[in-house]
Amino acid sequence: MDERKTILSGIQPSGDLTLGSYMGAMKNWVELCNDYNCFYCIVDMHAITVRQNPAELRKRTLAQLAQYIASGLDPEKNTIFIQSHVSAHAELNWVLACYTMFGELSRMTQFKDKSAKNADNINAGLFTYPALMAADILLYQADLVPVGIDQKQHVELTRDIANRFNGVYGDVFTVPEPFIPKVGAKIMSLTTPENKMSKSDKDPGGCIYLMQKPEEIMRSFKRAVTDSETCVKYDPDNKKGISNLMTIYSLAAGKTYEEIENEFVGKGYGDFKVAVGEAVVEMLRPIREEAERLLKDKAYLEKVYRDGAARASYVANKTLRKVYKKVGFVQK
Ligand code: TRP
Repeated sequence: MDERKTILSGIQPSGDLTLGSYMGAMKNWVELCNDYNCFYCIVDMHAITVRQNPAELRKRTLAQLAQYIASGLDPEKNTIFIQSHVSAHAELNWVLACYTMFGELSRMTQFKDKSAKNADNINAGLFTYPALMAADILLYQADLVPVGIDQKQHVELTRDIANRFNGVYGDVFTVPEPFIPKVGAKIMSLTTPENKMSKSDKDPGGCIYLMQKPEEIMRSFKRAVTDSETCVKYDPDNKKGISNLMTIYSLAAGKTYEEIENEFVGKGYGDFKVAVGEAVVEMLRPIREEAERLLKDKAYLEKVYRDGAARASYVANKTLRKVYKKVGFVQK
């Protein structure tokens, strides 16, 4: 018996992976596998709640897998899989949707945001999205769900669904906790530092991608929005741009905020922005090179996602069988 606690997390292949998802999520995942039993899902089923180009979606799903591995997630020590390969997700989604209230789903801020952005395609999947996310988590009896702050509401709804189900049928599901990193929980846009760094950012300079070329990365950092002062000081309320760059630098170069402040005493923002850009370029270089190499090795990637799906299915189907029995479905 594995005595370790279980972790599950997922990222949508709805765009290229960003520096925000790397620093806020993947970078932290790498160390967890020694202490936890970890499942990482590429949530392609969530991605189609907004229109995707099929060829692009397929390409990005594989690219995301390659970038997970290149970032240091060992597929032997972690279960890495593609959501649509484990049919239990779609099946538990349906059951959980019957235990999720219309009112609860209506209150989800991500639904409100996404329906405002996709006014011509407010589909039922976009609305019931949190029930699928609850299925992702509850199938593996996850104790902890590493997510950014923007996903906390969905994990809380997952807890409510799990408690509601357990209240009727006994202890079927582990009730999960959100697991939010202290530093880097939210990397902000380089051009509008009051907003989260996002692949849907309209301004291309606001977002850095894992696979981006060094020259492009440097250009975006040089153009990053700062403020009218000249001192490099961590003050997230009044100096949003500089504080965000300090967080990025701190995570990329392994320096504390105090060390960074001392390093740039008497120097201008120009020097600081170049230093942050260079640190990010050096941090991403080996990841990009390894991901490019892996993407050429289709047979290897295929083996990883097939093994991952087989391991995930084993665990997920166990939970699903229990759920089907509890709700009164006749055994196959
Ligand atoms: N909803 C998450 C996001 O948009 C992605 C996600 C889907 C997820 N299923 C999950 C995250 C399960 C954690 C656990 O970022």
